Amino acid sequence: MLDAEIIRGPISGVPGARLEILEVFSEIESTNSYLLDKPAPPPGRFRVALADYQTAGRGRMNRTWQSPPSSGLCLSIAYTFRRVSAPLPGLTLALGVGVVDALQQFGIDGISLKWPNDIIANGGKLGGILTEARHGVSESVTVVAGIGLNVELPDAMQALDESPLTNKIVDLKQCTKNLPSREKLSVAVIESLFDYIVRFESEGFATIRDDWQKYDWLFGRQIAVTGHDGHYSGIANGVDDDGALIIRTDAGRQRVINGTVTFLDNPDTSA
Ligand code: BTN
Repeated sequence: MLDAEIIRGPISGVPGARLEILEVFSEIESTNSYLLDKPAPPPGRFRVALADYQTAGRGRMNRTWQSPPSSGLCLSIAYTFRRVSAPLPGLTLALGVGVVDALQQFGIDGISLKWPNDIIANGGKLGGILTEARHGVSESVTVVAGIGLNVELPDAMQALDESPLTNKIVDLKQCTKNLPSREKLSVAVIESLFDYIVRFESEGFATIRDDWQKYDWLFGRQIAVTGHDGHYSGIANGVDDDGALIIRTDAGRQRVINGTVTFLDNPDTSA
């Protein structure tokens, strides 16, 4: 079971602490659902929920997120923006960079990001991000950002991947000889995400874009993308300042702000 005090201590100890409340559950339906049901934190303050086990963990596009007890990080952060000046999809990308930064603090390199929300290692899915928003009074928006990260999965889990995004599940144990405790990982990830949320609030995604592109797993691949406004196939060509995926198609350059990717070049890693 996660030790709440080991996580809470360092985070609340930060001068000018931005933490409103951090709760750790042994079991909960979904940390995202929990925070979405709670009153919004005041602007500028964070509310955090972690769980050892989620009975109904959710992923993007109504998928499930499966993480057996004590095998991963399941955490969500709620934050209220007074107003959001940049398109929100860019926040998910910014948070991906935040997770990569946090893992690098433990010497865990070689992590990639697959637009829009997958965290990739060794060609498989290490984790994912689910960002959900609730519009509040006037221009304020409360965002709940949920991170699921596989830390040490039981072997049987390899068969449980319901995600069509990659057909391989990876855990952090495969990425490092010095696996940090889930508490240490939680502290690093939460602090890094706080920083990226605040940075996104003041600067948008544009200044984070170059960093995101260093980890872009799709770049140069032949893909197909289904977005709200159509279906495109072509070569993935990075993202723009809003966090939209750029695709070079026969008909020219297309941008997709929200969509699902499928691979065309390698059916074994089909999305
Ligand atoms: C995805 O890959 O589609 C996103 C997965 C996000 C999973 C996390 S675990 C913590 C939080 N609570 C949830 O129900 N989902 C997110």
